[in-house]
Amino acid sequence: MATNLIEYWDRYASGVDADEEPFAWTQWGAGHGPGVELLGDPATSLELGCGRGVEVAALARAGVAAEGIDLSPVQAEQARARCEPVGGQVHQGDVLEFLRGTDRTWDALYSAWGAVWFSDPRELLPLAHERLSLGGRLVFAHAPAVTGAYGVQGMYANGFRGRAVWVHRWAYEPHVWEEMLHDAGFARARVWIEPAPEADHVGTLIGVASR
Ligand SMILES: C[S@@+](CC[C@H](N)C(=O)[O-])C[C@H]1O[C@@H](n2cnc3c(N)ncnc32)[C@H](O)[C@@H]1O
Repeated sequence: MATNLIEYWDRYASGVDADEEPFAWTQWGAGHGPGVELLGDPATSLELGCGRGVEVAALARAGVAAEGIDLSPVQAEQARARCEPVGGQVHQGDVLEFLRGTDRTWDALYSAWGAVWFSDPRELLPLAHERLSLGGRLVFAHAPAVTGAYGVQGMYANGFRGRAVWVHRWAYEPHVWEEMLHDAGFARARVWIEPAPEADHVGTLIGVASR
C-alpha cells in the first residue's frame, strides 16, 4: 500500500466533521434510509474502513464483539480511543491484506462509505465471502455510479498542482454489484439506490449480501 495514499487518508481524518450518528448509511443523516437492522443480528462484526469507529463503538456498546480496520493510522488511533473503552477492537492496515492474512470469520462485515468503495471488488468480494460465517452478511453503502462512468475511477488526491497521489474508487450499477456478489459466492445479494430526500438529488448505493 503506497505511503502516499496512507498520508491522504490521514489528512482526510483530520478534516472530517464530528457527525456521531452511527449507521446512517446515507449521506442524508439519521432518520433517512435504513439503519443498523441491515446487519441482521450479528454476534461478531468487522467494519471495513471504520474511520473514527463510530459504528464499531455503537455495536460494542450493544454487546457485539465489534472490530474495525482502517488504513489510516490517524483514523485507527481515533477509533481505538472511542472503541476500546467500550470493548471494541480496531486494527490498522489495508482490508485486502488483513482479510488475506487471517482465517477468522465474522457474522457481519460492513462498510459505510468505507473500504468496499476503495478496493477492487473482484479481489475484495470473494475474500469477504470467505471470511463470513455461514448466514453472515456483507453490507455496504457509498455513492452511486455517475451515469456512464463505470469500473475503476481515479482521482488526484492533491489536485492537479500537488504531489501525484492517486485514489481509486470502484463504481457500478446495482445489477452489476449483484452479479459480482453472486460470482464471489454469495447466495443472496440485493443492491439498490436508496433515493435522496428530494427528487433529482444524489441517492445512496446500498448492498446487502448473505453467505
Ligand atoms: C470516506 S471514509 C469513511 C469512514 C467511515 N466509514 C465513516 O463513515 O466516517 C473512508 C475510510 O476508508 C478507509 N480506507 C480506504 N481504503 C482502505 C483500505 N484499502 N483498507 C482499509 N481502510 C481503507 C480510509 O482510511 C477512511 O477512513
